[in-house]
Amino acid sequence: MPPRSVPAGDDPIRPRGGDEVTITIDGVRHTGRAGQTIAGVLLTAGVLSWRRTSYSQAPRGVFCGIGVCFDCIVSVNGQRDVRACQRRAADGDVVATQHDKLPADEGGHHG
Ligand code: FES
Repeated sequence: MPPRSVPAGDDPIRPRGGDEVTITIDGVRHTGRAGQTIAGVLLTAGVLSWRRTSYSQAPRGVFCGIGVCFDCIVSVNGQRDVRACQRRAADGDVVATQHDKLPADEGGHHG
């Protein structure tokens, strides 16, 4: 079990384990607990980044964790630009990473 995962029985906040949810990300199955966000499921599985920036290809995953930075966006069940830190994982969710190309250079900021 990855070190970030606290067994449900040891969790002082929610001592009872919830139902399991299974999601896939790019076809790989990950199991989490009902109530976890998609980011929570991924972090628990040891997945720390799941997209790259358009310009520098720098890895991104959770940065703020509160829905502000949009670093964690994924596609969920075909819907683009879902913030993984804000979306609760639902059993059967099909999550896909997004690797958008940089739009034509218009002299703007590159991140
Ligand atoms: S980590 Fe910042 S919006 Fe999700």
